[in-house]
Amino acid sequence: MKKVTINTLRKYKENNQKFSALTAYDCYTAKYIDQAGVDIILVGDSLAMVALGYETTHSIGVNEMAVFTKAVANGVSHAMVVTDMPFMSYHINISSAIKNCGDMIKLGANGVKIEGCNDYILEVTKRCVEAGIPVMGHLGFTPQFLNTLGGYKIQGKDQEAADEILRQAKKLEQAGVFSIVLEMVPEDCGKYITENLSVPTISCGAGRYCDGQVLVSDDVFGKFSEFKPKFARKYGDMQSLILNCAKQYNEDVKSGNFPSNDEVF
Ligand code: KIV
Repeated sequence: MKKVTINTLRKYKENNQKFSALTAYDCYTAKYIDQAGVDIILVGDSLAMVALGYETTHSIGVNEMAVFTKAVANGVSHAMVVTDMPFMSYHINISSAIKNCGDMIKLGANGVKIEGCNDYILEVTKRCVEAGIPVMGHLGFTPQFLNTLGGYKIQGKDQEAADEILRQAKKLEQAGVFSIVLEMVPEDCGKYITENLSVPTISCGAGRYCDGQVLVSDDVFGKFSEFKPKFARKYGDMQSLILNCAKQYNEDVKSGNFPSNDEVF
């Protein structure tokens, strides 16, 4: 399989071909997702919640993201690896933003994702792209803005709000993003923005008309059990699988059934 690049995604959009993205945070989960043919593997800052047990994505820093980025990059040969730049890793000033983004590329990411759109974010995006760092935008509900948005709220609910997201998306497009995640917006809004942009959109709860779809793998595999977003689909039950394997192992150790003759030197 050929490596997925920003050109592959551009072609997908031109040919009206859907593409897939899933999050991963460790080498072997990334390897299996890669083997399944998923196009983009996102080292999402969702890992703060689904892998580290924090309440929001705010608690993860750039040093932790670096460790998980390296682990994922070690497992992937086909998919495009994109790392989420965590809260406050790109806000202090342009030079630290570019350094932090560039460090993820040095560790094996093929791009970075940055949330929001304002003059500063546009400048960071432009400067990253000029430095050879592909940038994915993220609009609609942006979890790092949870406190200023006032909670987990659907965005782009009326025409005016959808127009504002489109305005921001166009500015990001001009600044050089290669794609834009649209999170938690009505399907009509996702469609409207997708039809009016030349870069691909990626839906995270933005409906069926975006160019690609992204989900958190722990939701897809049924591992994260705190809540299930309406827009996520659970394809497996890793929670039960882990629970059953651990129970069986615990019983076998305690009953003397493990280790067996074949499992000793
Ligand atoms: O952090 C994350 O996993 C994300 C996606 C689900 C879009 O940003």
